[in-house]
Amino acid sequence: MAAHSIRTVAAVAAAFLAAPLAAQVDLGTEEQRAAGKIVYDKYCGQCHGDTGDGNGYATPRVQPKPRDFTTGKYKFRTTPNGMLPTDDDLRRVIEIGAPYTSMPGWPNLTSAEIDNVIYYIKFFSPDFENPDRYGEPIDIPRPLESTEESIARGRVVYEEQGCAACHGEVGRGDGPSAPTLVDDAGDHIKAADLTQRWTYRGGPTKEDIYRTFSTGLNGTPMPSYADSLEVEDRQHLVNYVYSLGDGDDPGYGTLITAVYSEEALDLQDAEALDALFENTPMTRFPLVGQITEPGRNFYPSVTSIEAQAVYNRDEIAFRVSWHDLRADNTGRNNPSLEVPMWNEDNGIGGDDGGDDDGGFFGVEEDSGNDGDFFGVEEEEPQDDAGFFGVETADDSGDDFFGTDDDFFGGGDTGGDGAEFSDAVALQFPASLAPEDKPQLKPYFLFGDSQNPVDLWFVNLTYGVADTFRGRGSDAIEPTEADIVEAVTSYDQGKWTVTYKRRRASRAGVSFAEEQYTPVAFSVWDGFNRERGNKRALSSWFYVYTEPSVEQTATIPVLRAAFLVLVIELLVVFLVRRRAGQDAAGKNTGGEAITATEAPAV
Ligand code: HEC
Ligand code: HEC
Repeated sequence: MAAHSIRTVAAVAAAFLAAPLAAQVDLGTEEQRAAGKIVYDKYCGQCHGDTGDGNGYATPRVQPKPRDFTTGKYKFRTTPNGMLPTDDDLRRVIEIGAPYTSMPGWPNLTSAEIDNVIYYIKFFSPDFENPDRYGEPIDIPRPLESTEESIARGRVVYEEQGCAACHGEVGRGDGPSAPTLVDDAGDHIKAADLTQRWTYRGGPTKEDIYRTFSTGLNGTPMPSYADSLEVEDRQHLVNYVYSLGDGDDPGYGTLITAVYSEEALDLQDAEALDALFENTPMTRFPLVGQITEPGRNFYPSVTSIEAQAVYNRDEIAFRVSWHDLRADNTGRNNPSLEVPMWNEDNGIGGDDGGDDDGGFFGVEEDSGNDGDFFGVEEEEPQDDAGFFGVETADDSGDDFFGTDDDFFGGGDTGGDGAEFSDAVALQFPASLAPEDKPQLKPYFLFGDSQNPVDLWFVNLTYGVADTFRGRGSDAIEPTEADIVEAVTSYDQGKWTVTYKRRRASRAGVSFAEEQYTPVAFSVWDGFNRERGNKRALSSWFYVYTEPSVEQTATIPVLRAAFLVLVIELLVVFLVRRRAGQDAAGKNTGGEAITATEAPAV
């Protein structure tokens, strides 16, 4: 602590000389930092490192990397580009975390504990002793109303400023530069998907967006636009970015409702198909990295998938879509491609310490195949980082090292520029659970020997569906019992895959009306070298085949048609009666029409 004290004295002296900003240098007392160290060692060191250099033992597993506190570079700041964050900026990220990264929120810490840990982490970098590195927080004006004009002006600014180069034309993170972006650590970094506001690490509100592009995210390619944009244009830009969003939260669901249609399900008629799906409910499902078995994927590219289903008398069609920064449609892929160990997102195996305070490692792997969410105790969803909340239990060491043959058996994945394609699979149980145990489902990782699964797999290089039967990740065989068709498209950062199969199956699951059929999803991003077991996946969810008689869409249509008929008949009746009266008036013996005749028509 002696060295620290000397640094503090120097800092205070320096701060004293730099008059107006001096007040901002505040490194706390030795006691406060000592108390902060206790919090830090308990909750933060495993990621941020004992010495604050970002090299905790979890670091090889996470992306983006935990902040290296010795650099004094921070992303989420109210202060100008290149400046240090305020204590409030730090407090905010510590309280709520950075969604969709491994940085959890810490709502359990008291305000004093947070103050102390802030003093402690500031002390890792000499920058906090340098008054020149402090800047005044920017003013964040009240957001403008999202009028059409404001959004239109914002679009112009978006184009002029070149946001699309990274974020894409419609904001799906698929701009031409997106594949090339790296952060200061040299790791690839995704340009945020602006349509999925809930994934913004710095926060989803209009004020957050204003702050993000005004101050920039230091340490990343996301620039600061404070100098190039007037306040008002920034406000319009906020409204435009906000308008790209699909809502404040992902609205994850657990069920696809397959609706009945009289229409033919013709995969070749893209227009009719789009029209059909346009009126079909859509559900978004969360995806996480496969981290239970070898081929672990600690930072999957795709974090959610949307799905829909329609059926008619004979066939059922599923449509899934997800965002991907680039269409990788030249490589190879299939569900059983080997992933050599060096290509796992993982430098370390073994024990994680097992105390799940962080949420990050908070999941017990359980070998049971009861099909609940990853066999995972879902934690209170205290923050989005909970999705990464997975603990490979102590036995993971065996998984890692017990199967070397598997790892090195494939051997074709050397540095020869092997490329992998994007791919997707729907997974269904090969047969439904017995009626007395409806909750029974095959093991979520491609089934097990007792309870096989069927995979409808599409390698987007070929765009056709291949069917596989899985009895576990190491027992996946092609099957041809049923023909599954597929059509695919990639448009501005979004893949859409539409599948079709006969409802009745010869070897797998049939889709009867009013049936709940388990379904799970896998997505592979070739850009992220995902293949085989290295993938994003979901737990089991359900498809519910809505009864065809209670078609919520058709009944109102029928009702309307009936009403029109009645009105028509009434008009006909009145006109004919008038004609009859006229005729009668002229005494030409016109027929009398009675009211009872009309509805009988
Ligand atoms: C499971 C790993 C993990 C743990 C535990 C963890 N962090 Fe982090 N932390 C991260 C990651 C990863 C980032 C980087 C997020 C990003 O770059 O978007 C980060 C970033 C930060 C940042 C920087 C925000 C910025 O503006 O750049 C602060 C401050 C921070 N963490 C504080 C803490 C504190 C305090 C604790 C303990 C109470 C803690 N972290 C525990 C993983 C972790
Ligand atoms: C050179 C590439 C690049 C350009 C140009 C760019 N961005 Fe970004 N932007 C990024 C990257 C990379 C991230 C993700 C940073 C991260 O995940 O930490 C990002 C993140 C964001 C975020 C989300 C931040 C968060 O909280 O997670 C917003 C909003 C955003 N950018 C808006 C814009 C706007 C508006 C423009 C144009 C005025 C723009 N960006 C221009 C690369 C860029």
